[in-house]
Amino acid sequence: MSKRLPNSVIIGTGEYVTGYVPGGGSKSDKSCGVVGLVHFDMRRRGLIGERILIAGTNGTKFPPAREHLKRLIDGRYRDLSSSFESFPSDDCKRDPNAYKEALNQLQEGDLVSVFTPDDTHFEMTKEALERGCHVMVAKPLVLEFEQHKVLADLAMKKNRLLLVEVHKRFDPIYSDARQRLNSGQMGPFGYFYSYMSQPKFQLDTFQAWAGISSDISYYLNSHHVDWHVWAMAGRGRPVSVRATSSSGQAEKRFGDGRKCEDTITLMVDWENKESGSGDDGCNSGMKGHAVYTSSWTDPVSDVHSQQHFYCQAHHGFLKADQAHRGYYVSTDQDGYKSVNPLYMKYTTDAEGYYNGQSGYGYQSFEKFVLAAHQVNEGTKLASDYNNLLPSAVSTLQVTAILHAGRISLDSQNSTVRINYTEQENLFKPTSLTVLSN
Ligand SMILES: NC(=O)c1ccc[n+]([C@@H]2O[C@H](COP(=O)([O-])OP(=O)(O)OC[C@H]3O[C@@H](n4cnc5c(N)ncnc54)[C@H](O)[C@@H]3O)[C@@H](O)[C@H]2O)c1
Repeated sequence: MSKRLPNSVIIGTGEYVTGYVPGGGSKSDKSCGVVGLVHFDMRRRGLIGERILIAGTNGTKFPPAREHLKRLIDGRYRDLSSSFESFPSDDCKRDPNAYKEALNQLQEGDLVSVFTPDDTHFEMTKEALERGCHVMVAKPLVLEFEQHKVLADLAMKKNRLLLVEVHKRFDPIYSDARQRLNSGQMGPFGYFYSYMSQPKFQLDTFQAWAGISSDISYYLNSHHVDWHVWAMAGRGRPVSVRATSSSGQAEKRFGDGRKCEDTITLMVDWENKESGSGDDGCNSGMKGHAVYTSSWTDPVSDVHSQQHFYCQAHHGFLKADQAHRGYYVSTDQDGYKSVNPLYMKYTTDAEGYYNGQSGYGYQSFEKFVLAAHQVNEGTKLASDYNNLLPSAVSTLQVTAILHAGRISLDSQNSTVRINYTEQENLFKPTSLTVLSN
């Protein structure tokens, strides 16, 4: 039994962690970041230990990032301190291994959050799990299906949580939609589409990796693919993926010869398990299909990110527009905006305290921390959370779809089959195969 509060390492110092981006404070909807603020508040509330360590590559970025956080957090919220230990030191221009130094400070059962470019997630997560830490990773967990399997197995072997930070699962509307799809009223799945985008100025924020080590589908389709896979758990499975894309705007903006899609669409065929007449595996003969589209070349609009989906089942449909909650704010500074305080709420309560704990961007981390307490105290196993939280074990289909999409784009839009071993597990993909055009 351990009552010690776990300390935390956050790897990454970018927009999602600090809100501090090349050129100053982010102009997105996350001006003081998400991961740092949530950790500082969880420390104030006594959910995590005193030590919060943040690791980046460039130490010279820490002094202005600290100033930025001090102004927007300490200067704004009562009793909330944004203090943290940083790696590498402030005079170090570049050390991509500084995160290992931060991990050296931790004990087994401590917490690691990985919020770095997608191609670095695998090594960092593996290292943190091997040291016996619980790990929360930004979506997408990894770029490659085989890497996902390795990490999921390692987490189970070590009895450690390995979660993907897909906060939309905690949005009251998205989680209600999932429950309704599974309520028995809707019937087998037929058709799904989603669209998610960001304004093109985000390309400047992500210039270090956009088109180089990841793409817009990994970055944004990952959200709705995760929701759909989660909603279909035990009822159907994705079997093939074909991807297509648009280009021209991002490549022109970067102007450095890199290849970078503007918009990516994944077209995915699904098989339904249920046929309404007994259990015939996934051979019910009833197919569904899904179209997931994401873009980072939208113009500036009333929201930072357009995001909506439509899901048709045999006896009903669900439709959600996450960008428009029927709540609008206009200021001289920012103009007319559709805002969503259900995600991250930055305003204070009547006594001046930060009170965004109910936001689903916050909840996502709090659930990770509370689950880690249970595993550390021995009251639960990490595997008890496999289906309760977005674990690596339960999200293999997500990486299978995203990776198959990338393979399709890189092989003249070929169809990529997702393979399963029928007898062993109807829903656990085993490999990907490129089919000829
Ligand atoms: N920005 C968002 O709204 C958002 C939302 C959810 C998830 N995410 C995810 O968070 C991750 C990071 O996104 P971001 O928006 O903060 O990106 P960003 O480009 O603003 O920041 C990436 C950060 O990672 C750091 N980094 C790179 N290599 C590193 C290394 N070896 N060691 C330590 N740090 C390293 C960089 O220094 C940089 O600070 C991505 O996986 C992204 O999908 C971002």
